[in-house]
Amino acid sequence: MRRAAGGRGRRRRGAALDPDPPPASLPQDLGHDPAAPTTRLYATAAAQPWHNDSADLVSLLCLSPAAKGGASRWSSSAAIYNSLLASNPAAVATLTARGTWYYDRKGEVPAGKEGFFEMPILNFVDGAPSSLAGATPSGGRLAVNLSSNYYVSAQRFPEVPRLTDAQRSAVASVEALADSPAFALAHDLAPGDIQLLNNHVCLHTRSAFEDGEGAVRHLLRLWLAPETEGPLPAVYEELYGGSLAVGARGGIRVDGVMLKERDVHVSLEAA
Ligand SMILES: [Fe+2]
Repeated sequence: MRRAAGGRGRRRRGAALDPDPPPASLPQDLGHDPAAPTTRLYATAAAQPWHNDSADLVSLLCLSPAAKGGASRWSSSAAIYNSLLASNPAAVATLTARGTWYYDRKGEVPAGKEGFFEMPILNFVDGAPSSLAGATPSGGRLAVNLSSNYYVSAQRFPEVPRLTDAQRSAVASVEALADSPAFALAHDLAPGDIQLLNNHVCLHTRSAFEDGEGAVRHLLRLWLAPETEGPLPAVYEELYGGSLAVGARGGIRVDGVMLKERDVHVSLEAA
């Protein structure tokens, strides 16, 4: 199993803020501007929309909660998909369509690549379903990649096609279902609590928070690539840094740190 987590750009409280910090990798308020196009919202105190992380599993260990807010919620994207397929198959078709969804790399651009890549929100291991008319698509295993913030911010690139009303409506439908009590669980992470989610079939979100004197929200995140996970569709290659090998995929690829060997991992506090 690969463990991949990092702390690039992390700033201890009271330390000087790098005027041009690299994207951070810990869910903690680092003082980044949530409105900046390359900001990843987990490094701010702003609310995060429903999303999944870029790994098979995501674990969070709560060391200390915020003074106010920061509530976590989780929702089954597989259940949302099933519901949407029954109630709004046109939205499913929109969320599955190739060549229409473009994902912002938010400044983490590998050499020779563009600042964005194409990737639908609904994906299937055995290819896109040939027909959505039936109760289930003909494709195989579902893998959901919903991070609306990334698809919206990719609109800053003029060469990226504009999001259509149908696309925005389809995302809103997913988010509304995710919010519904039928699919969502809510929990305030307390010190010692651990969250463990499968990103392909679960979405998560977090409300805005405020730190206070003696109450600074501090969570450690761990991304896991279990050897028991199933295959992913080829479209995940860009999101996962080129490797879709079970047990060795996902996470953040840092220059000079190549995770090719089994059991090699990056420290949670790596600089
Ligand atoms: Fe997340």
